[in-house]
Amino acid sequence: MNKETLRRLFRSIDGEPEDDIVKVAFKIIEEEESKGHLLLAKNLREILDAKIKSSFGLKKELKSIFDKDIPVSRRYNIPLATHIERENLRHHMILPNEVEKRFQRIEKEYVARERLAHNGLKPRQKILFYGPPGCGKSMGAERIAWNIGLPFLKVRFEAIISSYLGESAVNLRKMFESIKFYPCVLLLDEFDFFAKSREIGQDVGEMHRIVNMLLYLLDEFNAPGILIATTNLEGTLDKALFRRFDEVLEIPKPGKKEVIDLLIDTLSAIQVSKVINFDQLVNQMNDLSAAQIVKVAQDAAKLSIIEGKGIVEQCHLQSSLKEILNQTI
Ligand SMILES: Nc1ncnc2c1ncn2[C@@H]1O[C@H](COP(=O)(O)OP(=O)(O)OP(=O)(O)O)[C@@H](O)[C@H]1O
Ligand SMILES: [Mg+2]
Repeated sequence: MNKETLRRLFRSIDGEPEDDIVKVAFKIIEEEESKGHLLLAKNLREILDAKIKSSFGLKKELKSIFDKDIPVSRRYNIPLATHIERENLRHHMILPNEVEKRFQRIEKEYVARERLAHNGLKPRQKILFYGPPGCGKSMGAERIAWNIGLPFLKVRFEAIISSYLGESAVNLRKMFESIKFYPCVLLLDEFDFFAKSREIGQDVGEMHRIVNMLLYLLDEFNAPGILIATTNLEGTLDKALFRRFDEVLEIPKPGKKEVIDLLIDTLSAIQVSKVINFDQLVNQMNDLSAAQIVKVAQDAAKLSIIEGKGIVEQCHLQSSLKEILNQTI
């Protein structure tokens, strides 16, 4: 490649030191040095250094703008939400067909929001997930953010709740205000926390104020993103809260098909015996949560590796299942 082409190529690089393209570029510089083309190598190194610094600096700046956008609690300056990076979002879910379709409807409506708006319609934006523990309520919120490509914010209730009169409601309002023009998925995970807060010594009046504020904020919600609340205490929740959601979706325990899919999926990175009797396993797993099934499969995989076989057999699955069943009694 001639010198000028190389320089042009280097000027078009945009990356961080860990990126493959940057590593290859450094290799080219070394090769030019070893060929004795010292002036060219020096020149390419200068171009590359400048390109890396500018892209690195820009990304840092964007990150700090984002951090600044998360509001802090009034008295203690604690961030009211946590931002979970896209690469850390759990998104590969196994759901019963009907539930999967309802997830997809939420995602498709959001993607089509502009077309819907032209016809005076709005996508589902206020979602409530309820159901037994460990079946994908929190994960479901992450999956939606991942699929539609929105940033994911998880509200920190411990930061919202304040022992000072009226401040919890103010904090909650502040959190909602901050996303008014910011498209994101905002997760109010286990939002029955308010109901439980009474037990952990919070004043009843303060809890009423915060529930009222939540009712108001749900009514007024007009942000460009999606709000997702989760609970496994749907029976004890204020009915007035339920009515305010556009979609109330139960995420149930996995059925037979989902149990098999969860096992196969979790074991997909390891060798599995061809003679596993899945039907027998499924019959013993009919009341387990998705989280417990994933754990059975992971424990079985670990057992097979530790034994040195590296192939998962019926006995490994049976033994880890027995352990989980004993824990749930
Ligand atoms: N539907 C699912 N598909 C695949 N994995 C799942 C599913 N549901 C749960 N899991 C596994 O279980 C773990 C816990 O799930 P999650 O945190 O979403 O449970 P949850 O319903 O929010 O429970 P809790 O009520 O205790 O908060 C996940 O990290 C994942 O490994
Ligand atoms: Mg959860």
